Amino acid sequence: MTGYQDFVGIAPVDLVYVANHGRMQDVPPGLRETFAAAAGAMVQNAYLYCASAGLGAVVRGWLNRRQLAEHMSLNEDEVPILCQTIGKPACGGSAPV
Ligand SMILES: Cc1cc2nc3c(=O)[nH]c(=O)nc-3n(C[C@H](O)[C@H](O)[C@H](O)COP(=O)(O)O)c2cc1C
Repeated sequence: MTGYQDFVGIAPVDLVYVANHGRMQDVPPGLRETFAAAAGAMVQNAYLYCASAGLGAVVRGWLNRRQLAEHMSLNEDEVPILCQTIGKPACGGSAPV
């Protein structure tokens, strides 16, 4: 559900980063997408942890947002923006398995 690529279905952990526009009432509407980009900082923190723990991680933007939102029972204010797959590094690459 969280992506199309093979390793997504094999790796043990998939983080889903969701922008909740309903909780950004104090942010002007035109800036909410920009604030949602803070997910990039969260992704990087997870990458740092993975690097320190010897884990592989891949942040992914290729996902079916509508289908994922439906399966997570998100409301229309909540938008999945990125996923990050985590697992043991695959042999010869960084993709997690
Ligand atoms: C915002 C963003 C979205 C990305 N989306 C995907 C994706 O959907 N699928 C994918 O394989 N890589 C995606 N990437 C690239 C991977 O996260 C990663 O950078 C790439 O696999 C190369 O990793 P490596 O340099 O460790 O080999 C994305 C990167 C960023 C920054």
